[in-house]
Amino acid sequence: MAFLEDARAARGGGPVGHSWPALWPAGLRRELPGVRRVEAWEGNGAAFARFTSPSGPLFLKYLPLGWRDARAYRRFGREIAYLRDLAPLCPVRHAPLLHAAQEEGRLRAHLLTPDLLPETHGWGAFQTEAQRGAALLDVVRVMAQLHAFWANHAALRGVWAWHPGALLRQAERIAVKATGPNHQTLREVSAALPDLLQRTPLHTIAHGDIHSGQLLWPVAGGLPFLIDYGQVHTSIPGEDLAHLLYVRLNASERTQWADTLREAYREEAAAHGLSLSPARLRHEEHAGLALNVLGTLKTAARSPGSGVQGAVQNVLASWAEWLA
Ligand SMILES: Nc1ncnc2c1ncn2[C@@H]1O[C@H](COP(=O)(O)OP(=O)(O)OP(=O)(O)O)[C@@H](O)[C@H]1O
Ligand SMILES: [Mg+2]
Repeated sequence: MAFLEDARAARGGGPVGHSWPALWPAGLRRELPGVRRVEAWEGNGAAFARFTSPSGPLFLKYLPLGWRDARAYRRFGREIAYLRDLAPLCPVRHAPLLHAAQEEGRLRAHLLTPDLLPETHGWGAFQTEAQRGAALLDVVRVMAQLHAFWANHAALRGVWAWHPGALLRQAERIAVKATGPNHQTLREVSAALPDLLQRTPLHTIAHGDIHSGQLLWPVAGGLPFLIDYGQVHTSIPGEDLAHLLYVRLNASERTQWADTLREAYREEAAAHGLSLSPARLRHEEHAGLALNVLGTLKTAARSPGSGVQGAVQNVLASWAEWLA
């Protein structure tokens, strides 16, 4: 692919402020003339830049030369694959993929979509408790639409196939290797998982990192856009739901919101062809909570930051409460 060669030829520079050709390879510049950079910044797992162009505003998410972050590189692979192969089939609003490239040797990657900033706002724009409450309902509605659309969908094959057996083996390996203060819980979760998954017969696409920061609300109204597909994977519907309820909300937010969110999720999923009784949703949530205990502890084991530790305490307390 000519563009990749350009990407390889582009040298030098650190993450932001680095030279224009490295951030915007020559091949792409030829395809999209008249592009101007508006701003660029770095996040934890990616760097970003916004551009104007004659064909409209553009948004670049990229992994700069020099980061050499294999995990972030794999997330790019997922996000590119989802946006390229699956997202166009699904009515959930997203920024369509315009261009993407990955360079395995140097762990470089980028993806280009329209820049949604001029037409949307994020969670931070909600000022009142009432506005944030309504916006949280949007989060579960969009999630329910995603799950309902992909529920047992024929396109979920190949790299998107559902392999509960592999998940169980992975959980077992984590439990066997675990040594830290939570090893007992990990064994418990791993032992419970076969039965929990048995009772959740449906598979779908899970966003994998669902929270209020992953939606962009159109200023003109209408349903929000769902962004950031770096952790998307095939799973049970309960995984995302439990992530939102038990990892992202704290205990007092849960007390205030969980039942309303469950109901909104059930209603929206049913309206899109996926009917889950309250009892079935509870199974989903239980199995999803187990998966989130595993996932959160796995993340915490490699990144001891205080944010992750807070998430660990949160999800472990919920797991203990569920058993009580
Ligand atoms: N298409 C887009 N148009 C405009 N802004 C976007 C677009 N996609 C993402 N953003 C903005 O960039 C931010 C980061 O994007 P994203 O959520 O995809 O990355 P991330 O993996 O969460 O990065 P990090 O973990 O470093 O925060 C979003 O919170 C949003 O504000
Ligand atoms: Mg994000």
